[in-house]
Amino acid sequence: MTAVPSRPREIAGYGLVLRPWDDGMVRQMARWGEHGFPYHAFDLGFLRERFRAEMTLRKMRETDPHHHFVACVDGRAVGRVSVNMRDPAGLYLWSVHVPPEYEGQGVCRRMIAALISWLEVEVPGVPFVLTTNTFAEHAHRAYAALGFSVMDTRWQFDQEIAREMWKRPEEAHRSLAGHVRFQNGRWEVRAYVMSRQPGAPMDVRVGAAVRESVRL
Ligand SMILES: CC(C)(COP(=O)(O)OP(=O)(O)OC[C@H]1O[C@@H](n2cnc3c(N)ncnc32)[C@H](O)[C@@H]1OP(=O)(O)O)[C@@H](O)C(=O)NCCC(=O)NCCS
Repeated sequence: MTAVPSRPREIAGYGLVLRPWDDGMVRQMARWGEHGFPYHAFDLGFLRERFRAEMTLRKMRETDPHHHFVACVDGRAVGRVSVNMRDPAGLYLWSVHVPPEYEGQGVCRRMIAALISWLEVEVPGVPFVLTTNTFAEHAHRAYAALGFSVMDTRWQFDQEIAREMWKRPEEAHRSLAGHVRFQNGRWEVRAYVMSRQPGAPMDVRVGAAVRESVRL
């Protein structure tokens, strides 16, 4: 099995810096705005509870098989992303999350581009993989810009979504029409498996024109 490269102290690029989770980052992320349904699984308000924050930080400091990063601009936490270095399908990106207050400034594209650039050097020749619920269209635009395309579509059980489907089925069903189904006694969500070949072009629109539009 290929050795997992040790997690760097930081990865800089595309106007931001990826750093490992630490106490200060956790305190900042605990105060992030929340997306709510159907993206509630990403929300980090639970980090305001001391015990859960400590448990989460301990988990996020483990480095095999996952590396967990917080994207920062001038020391401010603006996004997060994790990568499973040992998934059989490839370098598996997950927990891609930018809170509402920092959306629309290319943080998602830029933090993933910075991570991919580092991974392509450290673990050359390995494809990138992720899964994404089919309703997450904002995320799909970012992934497509970074060279990802849909390889497969599947229905899967999603505990977080299922819980809400039972709590408020009509409202949830309306907003997720075509993306959820009730099958074999449980709620399933449609998901894309996306992949990207190493070296595929990434459009992050960095440069003078974009720098002017970046508000961070
Ligand atoms: C999906 C999510 C991560 C996107 O974050 P984001 O930082 O707003 O996404 P992007 O990097 O694509 O940037 C958004 C917009 O900024 C603009 N932009 C892109 N690059 C830019 C740059 N370098 N500078 C300024 N603006 C830029 C783009 O026009 C883009 O708009 P578009 O989505 O209409 O194409 C965020 O909405 C989120 O966390 N959602 C909830 C959780 C979720 O869905 N996670 C993904 C699950 S698979």
